[in-house]
Amino acid sequence: MFGEADALQPPRTEQLATQTFVLRGFALPWIDALLPELRAVLAQAPFRRMVTPGGFTMSVALSNCGALGWTTDQSGYRYSGRDPRTGQPWPALPQAMRELAVAAAAACGFADFDPDACLVNRYVPGAKMSLHQDKNERDYSQPVVSVSLGLSALFQLGGMQRSDRPVRVPLLHGDVMVWGGVDRLRFHGVLPLKEGSHPLMGPQRINFTLRKAG
Ligand code: SIN
Ligand code: FE2
Repeated sequence: MFGEADALQPPRTEQLATQTFVLRGFALPWIDALLPELRAVLAQAPFRRMVTPGGFTMSVALSNCGALGWTTDQSGYRYSGRDPRTGQPWPALPQAMRELAVAAAAACGFADFDPDACLVNRYVPGAKMSLHQDKNERDYSQPVVSVSLGLSALFQLGGMQRSDRPVRVPLLHGDVMVWGGVDRLRFHGVLPLKEGSHPLMGPQRINFTLRKAG
């Protein structure tokens, strides 16, 4: 598996751990297809800030598309087939978002990625994501594929224990990060976004993360 992933890597791949990769600029050829898809998703399911089980309002605003969407409220974190704001199903997972994620996963050695959930995160300056593990999904053999658009951020890639010191990975517009396999449950987070304005995306970072949740 490891050798295969190695052989498949395109030139601008950075390998951060055994099965953790950043594909620099991998999403750039897809941008013109992605942005209208994102706009349509957000028209149907606008960004909103959710409350954690601990009672804190997240600094990141989120939305979802796909059969399942990640949500949080006072009673816990979960995937749900319906947008809690409207009771309606989440918007369908758009084609380019899906194709990009499947291609990125394949480039990192995950040949049969089959995402059914896409969490869309919006960071404005100051917004951050504390260290956490992605573990609300059923099947940990499927990777996480995370696409960064807009302002650059410092991603924190930690280890298997919360106390493991994270490394800081700059994520820029168009970068795609993939982690899975032995790295699937690594702690990770995002440091507070710096002030700025991106020429295409404005004063924000939008990140969308595809997973197989169900
Ligand atoms: C997440 O862990 O869901 C967000 C990761 C990111 O914004 O890069
Ligand atoms: Fe995460």
